[in-house]
Amino acid sequence: MQIRESSEGDKETIFNLHQSAFGEVEGRAVATLAVDLLSDKTALPILSLVAESDSEIVGHILFTSVSVSDLDASNAYILAPLAVAHNMQGKGVGTALINDGIEKLRARGADFVLVLGDPKYYHRTGFSAEHHIKPPYQLDYPEAWMVQELRTDVLKDVRGTVQCAKSLSSPEHW
Ligand SMILES: CC(C)(COP(=O)(O)OP(=O)(O)OC[C@H]1O[C@@H](n2cnc3c(N)ncnc32)[C@H](O)[C@@H]1OP(=O)(O)O)[C@@H](O)C(=O)NCCC(=O)NCCS
Repeated sequence: MQIRESSEGDKETIFNLHQSAFGEVEGRAVATLAVDLLSDKTALPILSLVAESDSEIVGHILFTSVSVSDLDASNAYILAPLAVAHNMQGKGVGTALINDGIEKLRARGADFVLVLGDPKYYHRTGFSAEHHIKPPYQLDYPEAWMVQELRTDVLKDVRGTVQCAKSLSSPEHW
């Protein structure tokens, strides 16, 4: 399996991958979010990675920029969405995409990465709900709102509400 940054020509495959992985109820909304974010100027800078196996795209992860209201400057991201093709799930593809993305963001000098997801899955890759950054809307499951620090102690004094890209700011995604 190989991981590379996605290109413009991958958009349709990325849409289909999310639609299929997330299934009938959520699929279309998540797939639309993924491609909208890829061309959303308010999401920049972004990091969009695909995992390929036998030249087929089998996974996609997207990190888009966020800011936090009380911070003068931050270099921070949110992970959303992440999907792995059904026939490749449970083989480490999702974990590899997360870890590769985190390393690339660290190399860019990023401070932290937020995620809204299943704690059981994201705890494994270093995310934690122990922080003081508020989501844009009140959540039914606050424990699913997690962060990973990419520079030591950078989160210690971070307080405030996150501001995401326009495409991700709609309440349906929360
Ligand atoms: C969730 C998803 C991205 C995980 O990717 P993956 O490549 O299958 O996961 P990995 O192989 O890296 O990790 C597998 C491990 O995570 C666990 N896992 C997978 N999905 C999980 C989930 N939704 N919740 C909790 N644990 C999960 C597996 O049980 C497995 O654990 P084990 O190693 O102890 O057996 C993938 O299953 C997927 O695309 N699902 C549909 C879309 C989706 O729900 N995305 C949500 C991302 S927030």
